[in-house]
Amino acid sequence: TQQRILTDADFPPLRNDLLLRAARGEPTKHAPVWVMRQAGRYLPEFRAMRAEHDFFRVCRTPELAARLTLQPIERYGDLLDGSIIFSDILVVPQALGMTVEMVPGKGPHFPEPLSVPEDLNRLAASVDVVAELGYMFDAITLTRQQLDGRVPLFGFCGAPWTLMAYMVEGGGSKTFSKAKTWLYKYPEASAQLLGRLTDVLIDFLVGQVNAGAQILQVFDSWAGELSPQDFEQFSLPYLRRIATEVRGRLGDRAVPMTVFAKGAHYALPGLAQAGYNGISLDWTLSPVEARRQVAAATSETIALQGNLDPCVLFAPHDVIRARTREMVEQFKTAGGAHIANLGHGMLPDHDPEALRVFLETVREASSKQ
Ligand code: CP3
Repeated sequence: TQQRILTDADFPPLRNDLLLRAARGEPTKHAPVWVMRQAGRYLPEFRAMRAEHDFFRVCRTPELAARLTLQPIERYGDLLDGSIIFSDILVVPQALGMTVEMVPGKGPHFPEPLSVPEDLNRLAASVDVVAELGYMFDAITLTRQQLDGRVPLFGFCGAPWTLMAYMVEGGGSKTFSKAKTWLYKYPEASAQLLGRLTDVLIDFLVGQVNAGAQILQVFDSWAGELSPQDFEQFSLPYLRRIATEVRGRLGDRAVPMTVFAKGAHYALPGLAQAGYNGISLDWTLSPVEARRQVAAATSETIALQGNLDPCVLFAPHDVIRARTREMVEQFKTAGGAHIANLGHGMLPDHDPEALRVFLETVREASSKQ
């Protein structure tokens, strides 16, 4: 199926490009800020909409996905410098033919996970991303129109290892023992699965940019479950292929790309050489130490993103302010471009006003000379 390729000329002019500039490593008048899961259950307006619509139904309905993406932009106004399309990393396993349900209060559930290598035969031999995931492309196009140039729009996907983990576990897990059993017991089938996911993810990200995504993030949420050696074998090569091939396919339409390998401390030098413009840090990493490792690993300019512990947002407002200022100062000391964010996503029981305090403090602390 053919996809129409849209360019900047098809959309309203971008009025706030701080996020894109920081992602390319350029200096900005203050650190741009957005947060993972900024459209989510902590917002009453989100819960009101979700009460009426099934999770994946929303993902598949561009008008609803656009409305949810815009909710935080409307609530926080110009305190946010970026938006991320409302969808989920698990739409890719769906496109490969797997059933995924979102169980309220529990999270994702696969009724028929992959349990032995023969189960790979149940996956679609090839995926036409425009036919299977065109709804996300349409959601991106509509959302970018409705953003009206206020802030850039992130497209995203899950990393191959993280998607494989869900497809084999059948949902979240404490130990990831089933998915890791695959790595050790069926290394070839694992490589085959990771490679097939990578092929689809490359098409998927290229399609998102064709549809209007202005920056991309790859989420390796379960990277921290792997040993350094296993990350080197089962995650990093695929992350590298995604960055290289997406950039190669897009040519002069390439957009900045960031990667979030949660919990993978040891992976910074490898990630710094993997072809991404930005690396997202969780709160267990020190910005200064992260910058040191990244600078030692590559001469490329790399933006660092993050990294306040989301649980700080449960503290009194003066503590949120103090911790946020410290975070901003640490990134200033570290040097290089900083995109402010949390170290992981917003939680359902966060108070929306706590996020406002974080956003205001980032703005104020990062604008000071
Ligand atoms: O605002 C945004 O961040 C954009 C949308 C977005 C969602 N999921 C919406 C969502 C994005 C970027 C994701 C990515 C995602 N999904 C990741 C990577 C980021 C991360 O958090 O590590 C992962 C691991 C998933 C898988 C997933 N989806 C889980 C584990 C859950 C349940 C846990 C939870 O937070 O509820 C989801 C559901 C989900 N995806 C919700 C939202 C807003 C909440 C579910 C609901 O509305 O009922």
